Amino acid sequence: MKFDKPATTNPIDQMKVVGQPIHRIDGELKTTGRAMYAYEWNDAKQAYAYGYPVGAAIAKGRIRSMDVSAAKKAPGVLAVVTTLDVGQREKGKFNTAKLFGGDEVQHYHQAIAVVVAETFEQARAAADLVKVDYAEEKGVYDLKEAMKSAVKPDEKQEPDSGLGNFDGAFAAASVSIDETYTTPDQSHAMMEPHASIAAWNGDELTVWSSSQMIDWWRSDLATTLGVDKEKIHLMSPFIGGGFGGKLFLRADAVLAAFAARETKRPVKVALPRPFIMNNTTHRPATIQRIRIGADRDGKITAIGHESWSGDQPGGQLETAVNQTRLLYAGANRMTAMRLATLNLPEGNAMRAPGEAPGLMALEIAIDEMAEKLGMDPVQFRIVNDTQVDPEKPERPYSHRDLMGCLKTGADRFGWSGRGRPGARRDGNWLIGMGVAAAFRNNMVLPSGARVRLGSDGVVTVETDMTDIGTGSYTIIAQTAAEMMGLGVDKVAVLLGDSRFPVSAGSGGQFGANSSTSGVYAACVKLREAVAQKLGFNSQDVVFEDGKVRSGNRSVPLAEAAGPEGLVGEDTMEWGDLDKTHQQSTFGAHFVEVGVDVATGESRIRRMLAVCAAGRILNPITARSQVIGAMTMGAGGALSEELAVDTRRGFFVNHDLAGYEVPVHADIPHQEVIFMDETDPMSSPMKAKGVGELGLCGVSAAIANAIFNATGIRVRHYPVTLDKLIGGLPDVA
Ligand code: MOS
Repeated sequence: MKFDKPATTNPIDQMKVVGQPIHRIDGELKTTGRAMYAYEWNDAKQAYAYGYPVGAAIAKGRIRSMDVSAAKKAPGVLAVVTTLDVGQREKGKFNTAKLFGGDEVQHYHQAIAVVVAETFEQARAAADLVKVDYAEEKGVYDLKEAMKSAVKPDEKQEPDSGLGNFDGAFAAASVSIDETYTTPDQSHAMMEPHASIAAWNGDELTVWSSSQMIDWWRSDLATTLGVDKEKIHLMSPFIGGGFGGKLFLRADAVLAAFAARETKRPVKVALPRPFIMNNTTHRPATIQRIRIGADRDGKITAIGHESWSGDQPGGQLETAVNQTRLLYAGANRMTAMRLATLNLPEGNAMRAPGEAPGLMALEIAIDEMAEKLGMDPVQFRIVNDTQVDPEKPERPYSHRDLMGCLKTGADRFGWSGRGRPGARRDGNWLIGMGVAAAFRNNMVLPSGARVRLGSDGVVTVETDMTDIGTGSYTIIAQTAAEMMGLGVDKVAVLLGDSRFPVSAGSGGQFGANSSTSGVYAACVKLREAVAQKLGFNSQDVVFEDGKVRSGNRSVPLAEAAGPEGLVGEDTMEWGDLDKTHQQSTFGAHFVEVGVDVATGESRIRRMLAVCAAGRILNPITARSQVIGAMTMGAGGALSEELAVDTRRGFFVNHDLAGYEVPVHADIPHQEVIFMDETDPMSSPMKAKGVGELGLCGVSAAIANAIFNATGIRVRHYPVTLDKLIGGLPDVA
């Protein structure tokens, strides 16, 4: 099915099942420990061996030689496979740095060997015995230095944009700011580490892994191993979080595949936690210069945003200016992104890549402008709303209710109680409120599904879509149930298997809308098959209460299925509605903080997110996505930072003791409001994404609240107490 005209009324609009607050259908499997994660697959017939990775101890250079003799003699060791043994490998098309193979070291903790033993402990002990002789080369690890020689990347990455005369308008503006903001390298720090089990059967490879994108991952593994993609069977039915860190094939699967081939045993490899942060990808640090000019009544006349980020040679930008191209009105505009070469681990997508760090900067800058204009920051944003793409005014938004989010949020949060900076106090706590806009584009990807109606009346959905904790199982069941006139208890959902139709996968907040649209398309096919089999006119056929009805005939679905059952399969493809219309999601974050006047410790007191993201498919799972994202934004504002050793080129705090993510005690109260809306341009589901929207802007709202509490403007994340303490008032 191709979605190329705005949606009209369809069975999803009944909202009998879709849109209902249904608890996760996989919840019981997870809470009882029966949901099998990659490393946990356990088939009694298999004698698993355990692989433990060895990582490079330099950040750049070559391996002259490796001595594995002691490791091979260690107790229980079955094999040691080194990067020199397997030779130069092709990179998968989605990876920048090599995962394994050849003598070149591109970053610290790049995998250079896997030690395989009968037990995990034996493999780990023997891994310490591998000796490596390196020829170390000088690398570049400091973004501040590297930005001086940053370059404009190829046009495919869309580094520049503009409209009107930015320089002239900025120089002429009555009120202006020109400030530089920085965001640090961040790590996904998902709960489940990257893990894989690989088992060969002749030239066929079965892999259990933890993958957000089954088809990309499988293609990349085939390229890396040099085998036919069709020979690889990948299963990833349950995933303990990804945040973009599991979009692409990683070393665990490659090492497991080589180790299994060498030992002729199925091999398990999990990346140890202290290995993950340098071995895998991260959100790259940015340096962002923002210039905004406005007239006295607060209308933006000039807006400019430049961003510098770094990556491995041949790598990608962190697209931190993207929201600035779209979010606010203003006739004169300029954005530019430049890419520095760094020999740090590969930078890549992390939840809301681009917008998350971009809004961390932009939404402080907007707060600074409002302050300078003497305007309320909510009002300043309202004055600068746009209903068209401000760089291409002929392109309207499909639906944009940022204003509704700001107004609703201000009302519900008690925004009118906000005082002047430093004016509110509760004992030793300086109290402040902050606001930021949330904005994230709404992408769609082709997504396929197969639905089977069985003779028992149960509909089984098969798609290679993944559930990374987001609720895919549940919203897919709701979609099929709505389409076929059933309750969710009559729908079974099977996900994350490369034998199923290729889906959008989980990423870029495109998963929910795209994958349910694919299920919608497959269900349309199944409805047709049912109608045709019964000789019903497919125009007036109704699927309701487990029956299919046409005129005065009504047949139970189980009976319609017959002993053989019926199947519908299709892929949702997308026309150009996302080109003629700008499709985005919107929100507003409100935060109240307390800052300890003596120590500078910041504590979040309350958070509210108001989201406008099309139809909400399930308010429970959607809310869960948003409060999780708000929590992530709290980490980004207050604690998360990969500390770069700029001499040796690695992230120093590479575990969860040193890289501090928020805990429950950091998050006292969160609330989420969804605007009641649909977007018929987005899909037949009329839904959009919320998983990344929830993160966008949160950290700036917190930084702005800290400014309101203390009068101290911090432009360099995270906002730790050392950046506040010198500016706090004397303790009385
Ligand atoms: Mo998302 S960063 O595309 O998983």
